[in-house]
Amino acid sequence: STETKSPSRNKLFLGTFIHSKTLTELEYLHNAAVAVNSLGTIVAVSPDTDLAKAQTTILPQLSWLSEDTEIIVAKPGQFFFPGFIDTHLHASQYPNVGLFGNSTLLDWLNTYTFPLEASLSSLPKAQKVYSRVIRKTLSHGTTTAAYYATIDVPATNLLADLCLSSGQRALIGRVCMDQLGPSYYLDESPAESLTKTKQCIEHVLTKDPKMELITPIITPRFAPACSAPLMKELGQLAKETDLPVQTHISENKNEIALVASLFPDAGDSYAEVYDMFGLLTPKTILAHAVHLTEKEADLVRERRSKVSHCPCSNSAITSGAARVRWLLDKGIEVGLGTDMSGGYSPSVLEAARHAVLVSRHICMDEGRSEERDKLSVEEVLYLATRGGAKVVGMERKIGGLEVGMEWDVQLVGLHEVGDEEEEEDGGEEEGNVDVFGWESWEEKVAKWVYNGDDRNTKKVWVRGRLVHERR
Ligand code: GUN
Ligand code: FE
Repeated sequence: STETKSPSRNKLFLGTFIHSKTLTELEYLHNAAVAVNSLGTIVAVSPDTDLAKAQTTILPQLSWLSEDTEIIVAKPGQFFFPGFIDTHLHASQYPNVGLFGNSTLLDWLNTYTFPLEASLSSLPKAQKVYSRVIRKTLSHGTTTAAYYATIDVPATNLLADLCLSSGQRALIGRVCMDQLGPSYYLDESPAESLTKTKQCIEHVLTKDPKMELITPIITPRFAPACSAPLMKELGQLAKETDLPVQTHISENKNEIALVASLFPDAGDSYAEVYDMFGLLTPKTILAHAVHLTEKEADLVRERRSKVSHCPCSNSAITSGAARVRWLLDKGIEVGLGTDMSGGYSPSVLEAARHAVLVSRHICMDEGRSEERDKLSVEEVLYLATRGGAKVVGMERKIGGLEVGMEWDVQLVGLHEVGDEEEEEDGGEEEGNVDVFGWESWEEKVAKWVYNGDDRNTKKVWVRGRLVHERR
C-alpha cells in the first residue's frame, strides 16, 4: 500500500462498514464504498454495492476521483467501524494504570494520583507520558479523547501539541484545583487558576484556531478541590467563551458527604453545587454520576449536561454501579470513559464490555435476571461512538459513517481460523478472537466486544489521516 500519513489525498474505502443506526441497532453495509475527500470528510456512501460493480460503475461517477486517489480495501472478514470516543480520561495518570490496590477515591487521589500528576511538571517526563498515552489510545481505536492533563501550563500545552502532531482529536483540559490537594500540587488562588486556564485555552486556539482537531475544555477537577470563588470564575468563563466543561460528579459516597459539608447551601445536592456556579451547561461532561438522586438527574437533564460512564473505574476503586438505563430513560446523553487511571485500561472496548457486565450486576443486585436494565452489545457500541460524540458535542462530525461527517474510523480484523498450513504461514495476527467463518456478522461483532483488543485494531484514521497501523 502506498498509504501515507498525508491528509491531502482523496481516499476510497471498499468493503464492510458497520456503525450505529440507533441506540439498539447497528447498520451493516457489505460490499460498500465510502469516499473521503482530501479534507477527511465523507463525501459519498454507496451501500450494498457489488465490489466489482463499485470499481466500474461507482468510481467513475465520483468526479473528484483521480489517479491520485488512494483505494483502501478491507479484507474479507474485516470491517470499518467508527473510531471510539473516550469521553473521560486523565492523560497524566497513564503510568499508574493498574495501580490502585484496595483504595477508594479520596485516599486513591492522595496516595497514587496527586504525586504522579505533580511530577509531570517535568517536561521531559510529560513528553514521555503524553506521547505514550496518545500512541496507546490510538492503537486501541480511540480517535477522540477528552483529556485531563495537570495543573501545569507548559505540560498541558505540550499535550495539545502532541495530539496535533499525532493526529488524535482531543479536548484538552488544564486541571483547576485550589484546595484539597497537597500544598505542592495546588493553584495558589482562584485568580491564578483562571489565568493559567486562559493561557492553555489561548495556546490551543493559537495552534488550531478553528478547533478542527483540538478543543480547549474548562476543567474544574471536582467540587471538593475547587473553592466557590474558583467555580464561579470558571462558570463565567464557560459562559463568555461557550467552551465545553468537564468535571467529576457523585462518584463515591465519602466524596458526596464531603461536598455536602463543604457546600451546605446546596441542599445535599452535588449537581446543585455545579449549577449554582453556572457549570451545568449543555457542553458539560460529568464523569461517573454513580449515586445521583432522582432530583439531581432531573436537573442534569434540564440543563442538558452529559454523562461519561466509567464502569472500569467505578468497579476498580469500588465507587459503585452507575444506572445507565435509568440515565438514558431520563433522556440524558451518555458516553463511555476509561477514566484512566481510576480505570485500569486505556481501551474503550474494555469499558464497553465492562458496561455490559455492570448493567447485569445491577439486575442481579435488584434480585432480577430478565430485565431491560441490561445493556446490549449494540447499545454499548452506540455509547462508545454516537453517544460519545453527543457527549463531546460533535455528533454532526463524528461517531457514524455519514456523508458530511469526518473519517474517524478504525479497521477491525478478527482472526479467521483457516487450515493449519495457512496458520503456520503466519498470515493474520491471531489476537484473542477466533472466527470460524460460520458466524453471522452480529455474532462476529459480539465476539469482538467480549474478546477483542488492540490486536484487532488494524488501522486507525482521524479526519482521513492514517494515525495508527498495526504491524
Ligand atoms: N475525582 C477527582 N479527581 C479525580 C480523578 O483524578 N479521577 C477520578 N476517577 N475521580 C476524581
Ligand atoms: Fe476521572
